[in-house]
Amino acid sequence: MNRQPMLFSGSSHLNLSKDICKRLNIEIGKMRLSQFPDGETDVQILEEVRGRDVYVLQSMARQPGHYLFELLIIIDALKRSSARRITAVIPYLGYCRQDRKSKPGTPITAKLVANVLTTAGIHHLITCNLHAEQVEGFFEIPVDHLQCQKILSEAAKNLIDKDCIVVAPDIGSSKIAETMAKCLGTELVIVKKERLNAFEVSPILIGSVRNKNVIITDDLCSTGGTLVATANLCREQGAKKIIGAVPHGLFAGEAIERIKASALEVLIITDTIESEILLPSFIQTTSVASLVAAAINDLWASGNA
Ligand code: R5P
Repeated sequence: MNRQPMLFSGSSHLNLSKDICKRLNIEIGKMRLSQFPDGETDVQILEEVRGRDVYVLQSMARQPGHYLFELLIIIDALKRSSARRITAVIPYLGYCRQDRKSKPGTPITAKLVANVLTTAGIHHLITCNLHAEQVEGFFEIPVDHLQCQKILSEAAKNLIDKDCIVVAPDIGSSKIAETMAKCLGTELVIVKKERLNAFEVSPILIGSVRNKNVIITDDLCSTGGTLVATANLCREQGAKKIIGAVPHGLFAGEAIERIKASALEVLIITDTIESEILLPSFIQTTSVASLVAAAINDLWASGNA
């Protein structure tokens, strides 16, 4: 019996899927992924998956609703083809920023996403840097919550090697920043952030960045508002070199232009989200492929010992 893991790829990030498969020394699972004339997603698994451990990679950015639904359909097809265990590999799990009722009449989309994935039939989730740790608890299945801070800090070390300080742009990002500071052996400064509207934030720096090289870290960059406001504040407060390091680069709207015009000199991201455009040189990408491949390998080995 062939007992290797099988990895199927949704359409959101074929490059990362290929890279992971290469590291696992396996081929991407054969599957037809197309659309019916009315726009509905059509899936057909073209390999025997009966009794096999299967992994499905899909990242939920840019068209989060489409990619989520495509993933659910692939999971359903695998379940109906009698796969033994289905693990969703979602490097960026979208819809997670609404993880509580922030005001009356609003949903908790992170819990909704956890519910639909589990109902579709996944047994396990592998994901990177959730927006908040508690989202893991929304799933009634095991979650491998991978942390990208180590690979980000390795990349940051190549740009800044001394007199550096890590800055968390808000209280919510203090955990990720704390891990980053530990990886780098540096101090941590936290910013108190006040959001003025969907695009603007007003940060107050608690602590000193004067004459320091600054690494601003957060879970993600969407409009760039948080990073830009924090970087500009650090510059005003006398910081030297200012770089950013975030796992997920969503880059909504004019984010890249805003970052370019800011005090941020370099932004390091990972490839949890496939970029649709060639990124400018001040945005550097480091890959999560080996981290994710190792997680798949460990999980597969534990179920096939
Ligand atoms: C907020 O809670 C998040 O951790 C990020 O700080 C935020 O979502 C980043 O968004 P933007 O780039 O639009 O400021």
